Amino acid sequence: MADPLNRIQKIASHLDPAKPRKFKVALLGAAGGIGQPLSLLLKMSPYVSDLALYDVANTPGVAADVSHMSTAARVRGYLGPDQLGAALTGAALVIIPAGVPRKPGMTRDDLFNINAGIVRGLAQGIAQHCPAAWVAIISNPVNSTVPIAAEVLQKAGVFNPAKLFGVTTLDVVRAEAFIGELTGTDPRDVHVPVVGGHAGVTILPLLSQARPPLPASMSAEARKALMVRIQDAGTEVVQAKAGAGSATLSMAYAAARFADSCLRAMSGEGPVSEYAYIRHPPRLSSGSGSSVAVDLPYFSSPVRLGRLGVEEVLPLGPMDALEADNFAAMKAELLGSIKKGVEFAAKGP
Ligand code: NAD
Ligand code: LMR
Repeated sequence: MADPLNRIQKIASHLDPAKPRKFKVALLGAAGGIGQPLSLLLKMSPYVSDLALYDVANTPGVAADVSHMSTAARVRGYLGPDQLGAALTGAALVIIPAGVPRKPGMTRDDLFNINAGIVRGLAQGIAQHCPAAWVAIISNPVNSTVPIAAEVLQKAGVFNPAKLFGVTTLDVVRAEAFIGELTGTDPRDVHVPVVGGHAGVTILPLLSQARPPLPASMSAEARKALMVRIQDAGTEVVQAKAGAGSATLSMAYAAARFADSCLRAMSGEGPVSEYAYIRHPPRLSSGSGSSVAVDLPYFSSPVRLGRLGVEEVLPLGPMDALEADNFAAMKAELLGSIKKGVEFAAKGP
């Protein structure tokens, strides 16, 4: 029989609030351009007990490599659909960067035909093997792949809108980086909301709410140019990579930051503030006088995360005229992408 004192000490160390709780994280698409650096960053997380690296190619090599890092997370590689169930079983957080990236001249929506089916298949696996997990979708077009996953989970009777996220953190990270560069501020001290969706005009940086504020001397043209640069930043990388893919390293950084927020919230360290593309509560209105109400079924919003997922969806806050125009202009495109995802899922198995 186990020594009772030993057992009590073990339980007490488990309850030590200074010691982070640990979780199994499954990464689907782990051998790809995002998956590999993200595996590395997740292996460094104090919140990860088990790291399940799943892909349809090359996971044995990536898992062997990452597993040699001298950090606590236990790494296992899983290859191909037969091993998806084992990768997912017990996962508290599933992160999905599986799918094809853009080449110059393509829109994110051009990826729909391939990536929609990939995300549908993986969401079916989640519904079967870890229906209570938090799910963070990176695969593009995010504006459509999140509704696809929601429909699949809904069909299986396990959809919890508080736990399904499209990862838009890279838009926030870029806004912080560009504003930091422009104003000579450490980007870690920049706070700027980026809301809406994750494609072109649907990406809405609320520069009027930036903290510290943008310089009063900045012209309207310069503010508009900054907004457009944030909206087109993915294309900037696609063009610079000239056919070799899209953002991978900055995306891995952004996804690791988002995963850290999720795991801290799960640990009970919340409420944790984040931005994410979520199934939006209907007619969530402002709260504050001049804030704009969101009337779209999916929208990236400021959220507070707690143990059970999204605990609160916060108002967008006030917008200036340029932002309000952009908000109105994005609605048709965002709704179209959502509808496309919902219809695809409805037709499928
Ligand atoms: P990549 O081609 O380098 O890697 C994708 C990986 O997915 C590959 O290893 C591939 O084998 C794997 N894969 C394909 N089908 C799979 C399946 N059914 N199950 C599991 N794995 C599968 O691409 P990447 O550069 O890593 O980009 C991945 C996706 O992320 C793209 O759709 C890209 O557009 C998107 N992306 C999104 C953001 C964002 O901000 N949300 C940022 C960058 C890239
Ligand atoms: C990004 O914003 O970098 C990603 O969505 C990838 C892309 O295709 O631009």
